[in-house]
Amino acid sequence: MKPFIAPSILSADFANLGQEVSAVLKAGADIIHFDVMDNRFVPNLTIGPMVCQSLRDYGISAPIDVHLMAEPVDNLILDFSKAGANYISFHPEASKHVHRSLNLIRENNCKAGLVFSPATPLTWLEHLIDDIDLILIMSVNPGFGGQSFIESSLKKISTTREIIDNSGHDIRLEVDGGVKIKNIQKIAAAGADTFVAGSAIFNSDDYEKTISAMKAEIKAAKN
Ligand code: DX5
Ligand code: ZN
Repeated sequence: MKPFIAPSILSADFANLGQEVSAVLKAGADIIHFDVMDNRFVPNLTIGPMVCQSLRDYGISAPIDVHLMAEPVDNLILDFSKAGANYISFHPEASKHVHRSLNLIRENNCKAGLVFSPATPLTWLEHLIDDIDLILIMSVNPGFGGQSFIESSLKKISTTREIIDNSGHDIRLEVDGGVKIKNIQKIAAAGADTFVAGSAIFNSDDYEKTISAMKAEIKAAKN
C-alpha cells in the first residue's frame, strides 16, 4: 500500500486554515488528518463538520481523514459524510454499538476506521476485522498535539500488522501521536503505512522539506 503522510491540522494556524491545508498538500501531503474533540471524550475542544465543509468549499479536494475523539459518534458520522469526509474513525469506547457505527460509515460511502488508544486492547478486532478499512493506533493518549511518542506502541503496531496480513483485507495501518522525522523510520518498519504528524509538520519552517524527509525515512525502512 502506498505510504500516506497525513498532516494533523490540530497544529495548523486555524486563522488561516484553508491556506495551511493547501500549503501542506503542495508540500507533498497525501491526506488531511482532521481531529475532532468534544471536551467530554477527551479534555479538549476543536472543530466539527462545518469546518470540514468549509475546507471543501475553499477548494480542498484531497482525502479528509476524520478522527473522532467525541461521543456519541453516529450523528457525527452522518454529518461528516455530508460535509465531505473520506475516512471516518472513532474509538470503540465512544460507541455503544461499534459494529453498527462502522457499518454506518460504510453505508455513507466513507472508509471506516477504528482507533486504539494506548490502553485499548486489539481484541476488539477479533469480531470486527471484516468491517474495517483503517486501523488507527494511537501512540499518545488522545487529546493534545505535541506529546511524546510512547515506545511500547511499536509492538502494538507490529501485532496489528500481523492481524491485517492474516485477514487478507486491504486495511490501512495509521499511527497518530509524536511522529517525527527521527522516529518515522522505525514506525514504518513496524508495519505502519499511514503517518499522522501534527506538530512535526506545522511547527516546522519548511513543510516541503519536512514531508520529503519523512518520505525518505519511510523509504529507507523498506530497504
Ligand atoms: C492527538 C491527535 C493527533 C495530534 C498529533 O489526540 O489525535 O492527531 O494532532 O499531534 P502530534 O503529531 O503533534 O503528536
Ligand atoms: Zn488524530
